[in-house]
Amino acid sequence: MSELPDTDLPGTGLPAGFRFGASTAAYQIEGAADEDGRGPSVWDTFCAELGRIIDHSSGAVACDHYHRLEDDIALMARLGLDAYRFSISWSRVLPTGAGEINQQGLDFYDRLVDGLLERGIEPMATLFHWDTPQALQDAHGGWLGRETAQGFGDYAAVVAERLADRVAHWCPVNEPNVVTVFGHALGIHAPGQSLVFDALPAGHHLLLGHGLAVQALRAAGATSIGTATNHMPVWPATSAEEDVATAGLLDTLWNHSFADPILLGRYPDDLAPLFPAQDGDLETISAPLDFYGLNYYNPTAAAAAPEGAANPIEQPPITGYPTTDFGWPVVTDGLHELLTALHRRYPEHPPFVITENGASYNTSPDGDGDGDRIAYLDLHLRQIERAVADGIDVTGYCCWSLMDNFEWAEGYTQRFGLVHVDYDTLVRTPRESFDWYAAVIAGHKIRR
Ligand code: NOJ
Repeated sequence: MSELPDTDLPGTGLPAGFRFGASTAAYQIEGAADEDGRGPSVWDTFCAELGRIIDHSSGAVACDHYHRLEDDIALMARLGLDAYRFSISWSRVLPTGAGEINQQGLDFYDRLVDGLLERGIEPMATLFHWDTPQALQDAHGGWLGRETAQGFGDYAAVVAERLADRVAHWCPVNEPNVVTVFGHALGIHAPGQSLVFDALPAGHHLLLGHGLAVQALRAAGATSIGTATNHMPVWPATSAEEDVATAGLLDTLWNHSFADPILLGRYPDDLAPLFPAQDGDLETISAPLDFYGLNYYNPTAAAAAPEGAANPIEQPPITGYPTTDFGWPVVTDGLHELLTALHRRYPEHPPFVITENGASYNTSPDGDGDGDRIAYLDLHLRQIERAVADGIDVTGYCCWSLMDNFEWAEGYTQRFGLVHVDYDTLVRTPRESFDWYAAVIAGHKIRR
């Protein structure tokens, strides 16, 4: 990658209070899947099905964060994080998704939050990062059932009662578009359903769940609530009319169907009939937020599938860019493109926060260095500077991820961490990118 100049953040327009964070998620790092009363989630079930996970692994042990909480908080303190974004496991708190509260589960998050606060790190909690309680999947078809959204609101109230006095920021639902498309439309993620456009009711219930959780959090006094929605620029694979139209469809589905309801209080016209909104739902979903969090990794290309294909959208690889070890194209100005597009479409948006951005490079800490990850993060931060210079309000950035972890259907084969995890010994070793990010945070200065 190209040589980068040093840049002083204050001089280039990042707001004075800009916050630097790192993100993780419960099922990806905690392990302790059967301990202290945790109930099973759809991901435990999915991982047990042959052929679902590339290396036949699961999050049963993951990084064993549940037992290494103190060590991991010490790493966060060494990194100097302003904020740490983690998720709460619904079935650790409510083992069957509803009803009896598992106090031991809440105690764990209580210790985490207090540990962060003792070190001056703002807790940023996600309430749902994909691990739907299996009991709700069995009882209501999970997110295909409206009951799950209602249950999510009740769960949010339980968590808020214990933690809202200390958690600084809340993201009720992580990537509702990914859950809908990967989990329910394409069957790549739990619960493994391939319903194509019939998956969209799950999307509506995830959004309704978001809105009901916002109500519960507000009632408990929360003052910083947002989102963590995945966004990607969608580029037509060719200039052929059908590819341009397909790119428009994917853009509407991915980028607008989950943001319009929250920020504009309506679904895009083209897809609205597929989302089963009842009276009042869109008012609930569009309650004002304090930030709009977005996860950005890369753009995608779109092309029309052959006539008659179950899924009308093909996503051929984007060529002409370097790729991460996941094969994802590194298109750093895609972040600027995205922020610009969102700013135009939603001029009244609350401040943007990048709730995830990062890259998989399978570097070992004693190997050839971690320059590609550093360049990836550095160049994306520069795109945020550009957007801010354009007058777009962006107030924070969370790197994905603090440490290597269970990458869903990819198992342990993709490593996104600032910290390397040896899955045999569970030893954590900070990578070069960890020291680089620590210097960025300490100096509010991008430096390679
Ligand atoms: C977004 C998801 O929120 C996270 O769980 C995942 O590990 C990263 N993308 C990388 O794929």
